[in-house]
Amino acid sequence: MTQNTDKADIGVYGLGTMGSALALNFAEKGFNVAVSNREADWIDTFLGKAGPLADRLTGAADLADFVSSIARPRSILFMIPSGAPMDAMIAAITPHLDEGDTLIDGGNADFNATRTRSAAFEGTGFHFVGMGVSGGAEGARHGPSMMVGGTAHSWANLRPMVEAIAARHKGDPCVAHLGPDGAGHFVKTVHNGIEYADMQMIAEVYGLLRDGAGWDAPAIGTLFADWQDGPLSSYLIEVTAAALQSTDSQTGKPMVDVILDRAGQKGTGRWTLIEALKMGQSASTIEAAVGARGWSSEKDFRVMADPLLPAQTLNGDVPEATDLQHALLAGRILGHAQGFRILSAAAEEFDWPLDLARISEIWRAGCIIRSVLLDDFAEAYRGDLPGGYLILSPALRDMLDASLPGLRRTVAAGVTLGLPLPALSGALAWYDTIRRARGTANMIQAQRDFFGAHGFARTDADGQHHGDWLPLSNGSSG
Ligand code: 6PG
Repeated sequence: MTQNTDKADIGVYGLGTMGSALALNFAEKGFNVAVSNREADWIDTFLGKAGPLADRLTGAADLADFVSSIARPRSILFMIPSGAPMDAMIAAITPHLDEGDTLIDGGNADFNATRTRSAAFEGTGFHFVGMGVSGGAEGARHGPSMMVGGTAHSWANLRPMVEAIAARHKGDPCVAHLGPDGAGHFVKTVHNGIEYADMQMIAEVYGLLRDGAGWDAPAIGTLFADWQDGPLSSYLIEVTAAALQSTDSQTGKPMVDVILDRAGQKGTGRWTLIEALKMGQSASTIEAAVGARGWSSEKDFRVMADPLLPAQTLNGDVPEATDLQHALLAGRILGHAQGFRILSAAAEEFDWPLDLARISEIWRAGCIIRSVLLDDFAEAYRGDLPGGYLILSPALRDMLDASLPGLRRTVAAGVTLGLPLPALSGALAWYDTIRRARGTANMIQAQRDFFGAHGFARTDADGQHHGDWLPLSNGSSG
């Protein structure tokens, strides 16, 4: 903390749910916090509800007063909508800054925008940090996981404060400086992509039990609650179990049964995919999850299709609970492995020193995808990992070996029963692709060369080659 007790240690601009929670968290950890908000009346409302923590909070509606109430070099955290509002705030506040000050965007920003903003600050004496914050309102208030991208100067100022407010895993604060400019926001985006995949796989298993086995929501909730004691133990399984066991006070029905089957999304899952595809990567689990949310929104189409498109199901049963548990475990491992592949590709593409072991570690507590598996991933990355590929670690190979039969039986059941498992089957398809030294892309290359003379590499010689293709029956050769 600063020696200057008259000045705040940090500024928080934006007193919505997340900003308010973070400001209170900083204050609770002993920091003096200056707060401000576009709608000035929110400031007094916030201070009025802060209780004893109000002693460490100073409100200022005027931007110049807000900035001057913070000790230099300043760290000013913005918790406002990403995009244009952030650019407007940067323009408005910059004239009040001094050399060495840092602006921090704590929203779910597009890392490309963060890179542009960081580049614009270069040479100005000011610094820009993109910081991913995970854990929702509860996490922000009592311990989020934070992914920081920015300069070493900004990190040095920010570090004691964010380490104090972060979630802890066995004492280790779940926050790290991951690289320059957009590194933090990129890692947060991929975190969300993995979150989408995990949520989708859980929903798929729920669907098998509901529509394939006829279980009611509380029964499914009890099964998920049981799984919370095993290798699936995680925040999302815990949330799922509690959600399934919740009752709607208006109707007395299970809460999930009165919720319309149309998923929202703010874009981070989609961004993960877009960036993966740009780098020549893909992530079948995340792709399936984003796609499924899109299809879920086509409610009218689905309602029309329901009586018109028969399932043509085959004989089959929903597998036993252990298989479903194993399917989720294998799917979770493969979904994370795909996310980490995207992070590796980005580290190379943007020349970021992304430490995948550290990223696993800071995801072990505070964030939405926290789970006991993250500890295994951290250990795998800290150990001797063949080629740096997560699923080649001996420990994870053992886990996959034990859970793969369950994943196969679950995906097979979805196929025979006509119940969609896009993320689980995407995970399995990726596994079956990666584990084969010789795939089928030789056929793709043959077709490309046949119709477009695109050339191919031979298995027995260097360089580019063309095939000795038979002419088609109409005489054309492509
Ligand atoms: C987190 C979450 C959070 C995200 C929500 C909703 O890490 O705390 O990822 O940042 O906003 O999960 O995201 P969608 O609206 O896209 O589902």
